[in-house]
Amino acid sequence: MIPGSYLQFKFPMYTFIYFSPTGNVLHLAKLLATELKSPVENLLPLEFTEPKQLERNEHLVLLYPIHGFNAPKTVKQFVKSLPRDLYECVSLIGVGCSTGWANGAVSSELRKSLGKKDYSIILDEILAMPLTFIMSFPDDLNLKLIALSESMIADLSLRIREKIASKRRSGSNLKL
Ligand SMILES: Cc1cc2nc3c(=O)[nH]c(=O)nc-3n(C[C@H](O)[C@H](O)[C@H](O)COP(=O)(O)O)c2cc1C
Repeated sequence: MIPGSYLQFKFPMYTFIYFSPTGNVLHLAKLLATELKSPVENLLPLEFTEPKQLERNEHLVLLYPIHGFNAPKTVKQFVKSLPRDLYECVSLIGVGCSTGWANGAVSSELRKSLGKKDYSIILDEILAMPLTFIMSFPDDLNLKLIALSESMIADLSLRIREKIASKRRSGSNLKL
């Protein structure tokens, strides 16, 4: 057996924590975990995960829906309770129904909480999926959004693997 592959089996590199009330985030989380060849046990639902019982790992990928141009309160509280030094780095993926400017500051509180614990942030990205709030977009738009987000998974996984930080967010870094 190749020593590296044994290590990878014993110490999987990625932990995925997702919050997904209506399933869009979970869909993308599963695709990303598969692309990164991460076992399904490393995909954890945020609402059933106790931050203090998390095991150390190399990279936490936190995926959350955008609610009112923000991360949901549950997600902010979870990040506030995350112990220090659990991960070498963290990636944030917010999933809304648009990638427009109005969602631009969505991750700022999460970044602030993580920054206080000296976590370095690699990805800080927004993807768009169908609207799941009272009304729905037309079917053809929904299909376009799903296809576009799915097509970005390979690139995001490469950037997670290579630890290529998001450039789009560098401006908001300065405001922390
Ligand atoms: C209460 C609520 C508020 C939302 N606010 C926003 C928003 O501010 N910006 C946005 O792009 N999408 C917003 N959405 C749409 C969701 O973020 C989007 O449908 C997301 O993909 C849902 O993910 P989920 O299926 O994993 O819950 C909102 C949805 C809900 C239910």
